[in-house]
Amino acid sequence: MLRILIINGPNLNLLGRREPEIYGEDTFEDFMIHLRGKYIDSDVDLTYFQSNHEGHILDKLHEVGFSYDGIVLNAGALTHTSIAIADAIAGIETPVIEVHISNVHKRETFRHHSYVSPVAEGIIVGFGLRGYELAVDYFL
Ligand code: DQA
Repeated sequence: MLRILIINGPNLNLLGRREPEIYGEDTFEDFMIHLRGKYIDSDVDLTYFQSNHEGHILDKLHEVGFSYDGIVLNAGALTHTSIAIADAIAGIETPVIEVHISNVHKRETFRHHSYVSPVAEGIIVGFGLRGYELAVDYFL
């Protein structure tokens, strides 16, 4: 049984309502129903965690980072600011794939730098919610 956790950071609880022209009109909860359906016959345990609090994301990375097989992380704006999240990813054993719904490189320059990228196994940007699915497929 493969254990995979998807982590969404700040403001991603507002998906579906937040700037839909950038992030789309689907809620993450609906997307999770689609994902769980897709992998129903696979030997995978897919869980989801969202927090607006940096420390809670750190705690979650520590909690699963020595036992899970993969983490799919969209750290939201913390991507561009958090050395602590980068250090946590460097310190755990579970590989992390960085996902961004929007193509951050088409947007403001402050979104072009990521503290997560140098410690991520891989990066998927700009494919909407499909990016999470591509990341799970990679782990499978
Ligand atoms: C985001 C891009 C970030 O720059 C932004 O702060 C987000 C969402 C994305 O998924 O496109 O909150 O990570």
